[in-house]
Amino acid sequence: MQKDYQPDLNGSDEIYGQEELIERAKSADALLVTVTDTLNREVIERLPRSIQMIATFSVGYDQIDVAAAQERKIAVSNTPGVLTNATADIAMLLLLGAARGAGNGEQAIRQNTWRNWAPTGFLGRDLTGKRLGILGMGRIGRAVAKRAQAFDMEIHYHNRSQLPEHEEAGAHYHDSLESLLPNCDFLSIHAASTPQTRGIINTGTLQALPPGAIIVNTARGDLVDDNALISALKSGHIGAAGLDVFNDEPQLDPRYRTLPNTFLLPHLGSATLETRNAMGFCALDNLDAFFAGKALPNPVTL
Ligand code: DGY
Repeated sequence: MQKDYQPDLNGSDEIYGQEELIERAKSADALLVTVTDTLNREVIERLPRSIQMIATFSVGYDQIDVAAAQERKIAVSNTPGVLTNATADIAMLLLLGAARGAGNGEQAIRQNTWRNWAPTGFLGRDLTGKRLGILGMGRIGRAVAKRAQAFDMEIHYHNRSQLPEHEEAGAHYHDSLESLLPNCDFLSIHAASTPQTRGIINTGTLQALPPGAIIVNTARGDLVDDNALISALKSGHIGAAGLDVFNDEPQLDPRYRTLPNTFLLPHLGSATLETRNAMGFCALDNLDAFFAGKALPNPVTL
């Protein structure tokens, strides 16, 4: 970026407030933003006329009001594809971490409270032979299915449309969430955050899961109603949850920290050196294409 542009870099990774974002945009032709930069309608309408493009360093773009950007003729791009494997790996880590109580085990070591090996100590649940439901069978959902099949899990999924047989790779399609949920010993969430999906995991949908089901989320925190999930975790109806994303992160609901049946990570689905480099170059490719008058490789449109 420094070679080809004159960037105003956020060297400290502090999150800019709305006013600072708008102020800094004043000398710019484009914005390269992340999931922490909220570009709602109000912000977009107040951006200077010089801004022609917003490239987000993320696959998700729920932080950007794309309709408002389109009205201002501001192009938007994202970084799909390059973070699929890293995020699917984290979903597997959450499945294993939640099912095996890895957080509690690690804490026992760190806090020096592990006294002895015991037949019933630290008992978790197997993944092998269990049914994994995948909500949202896009690139990441499919990469999770592939990994979970190597753990001999049976894959069920719900998506807006059924995948072609070769992409389904033996997974069972459900045309509704209601049909999927009773078939999930584990549920992994991979849907985008949209007005239709926000709060999709709530008291009603949690009740439809079999008792003891385990939920993992690497998508967005706002797909989950925290009160509903926390009370299901407390009652034991949900056996455990593995969460990498949260409502209002990093200020997540503090009750998650104290529940013994949660395994928690700080939104690190794409956090590998290789993947973050690939995301950066992908965002730059989109900016380069835009300023060269070419079609964006990864346009975000409505
Ligand atoms: C994304 O890309 O949307 C992730 O949440 C951050 O990598």
